Amino acid sequence: MQKSHSAKGLIVITGAGQRVGLHCAAALQQQGYQLLVSYRKMTAGIAALQQAGAHCIAADFNQLESMATFIAALQNYPAIRAIIHNASSWQADLPRQYASDSQTMSAQLQQDAAVFDAMQHIHARAPYLLNRALLPKLLASTDGADIIHLTDFVASVGSSKHQAYAASKAALENLTLSLARQLAPKVKVNAIAPALVMFNENDDAVYRQQALAKSLMAVAPGPDEVLQTILYLLHSNYITGRILPLDGGRHLKLP
Ligand SMILES: NC(=O)c1ccc[n+]([C@@H]2O[C@H](COP(=O)([O-])OP(=O)(O)OC[C@H]3O[C@@H](n4cnc5c(N)ncnc54)[C@H](OP(=O)(O)O)[C@@H]3O)[C@@H](O)[C@H]2O)c1
Repeated sequence: MQKSHSAKGLIVITGAGQRVGLHCAAALQQQGYQLLVSYRKMTAGIAALQQAGAHCIAADFNQLESMATFIAALQNYPAIRAIIHNASSWQADLPRQYASDSQTMSAQLQQDAAVFDAMQHIHARAPYLLNRALLPKLLASTDGADIIHLTDFVASVGSSKHQAYAASKAALENLTLSLARQLAPKVKVNAIAPALVMFNENDDAVYRQQALAKSLMAVAPGPDEVLQTILYLLHSNYITGRILPLDGGRHLKLP
């Protein structure tokens, strides 16, 4: 049996359990889109989306079997209007150590590799695999189709403490370019590269002050800025293969 559909079509959002993903999911649902979202931890936000009619699937995209379950949940939907790749993990690099023996070195290499692989898996491998698996559904959309990757300002400038994270978001930006070339004109493929959007609950006052001072606009704009950029891309008939900066002019805050 095919699922019923809203006039505006189906939007898939990864990692919609909290913060930016949840805000965008709730707003798009209110605007009349049908939603299919992923979450790892069940949250009050997911329960509310579900209550309002969203299809919510528990999935850990580091596990291929779990990803397959997520993809299978889309089987009965004939078309996808957009996929928003929001799921992310902001993992710091491990403290630098200089091993004096090969056993310690081996353990250290394994720990560093685990961080690097985890970042690549969630930010580059998962979008790559999902886009490939769901491509026929995007191509079946009669109202245009979009792939939107959430990347990060640091993908273009690097990061001293989150090198593996920054590299994985840079990989995702490169995938944006390749997919845009491959899929035009049927599917537009873009990335949104935010700098600071919102703080984490436990960020202290000193950290907040330092983070705000990094941009010209000197604010944490909140998740609605991301939503507005997503809507701008969804409504465009022309923008593809672009990395849209959402950074408060941080690139011009030069010493
Ligand atoms: N917030 C900012 O200021 C900021 C700045 C620059 C870029 N961004 C980008 O904007 C996007 C949203 O940011 P955010 O701060 O709202 O992110 P967030 O709070 O870290 O939420 C990301 C979501 O991804 C899910 N996730 C993590 N690993 C996963 C996995 N292996 N499989 C499936 N789901 C997984 C998490 O689920 P669980 O919670 O259940 O683990 C979480 O709900 C991210 O792509 C981020 O990189 C945000």
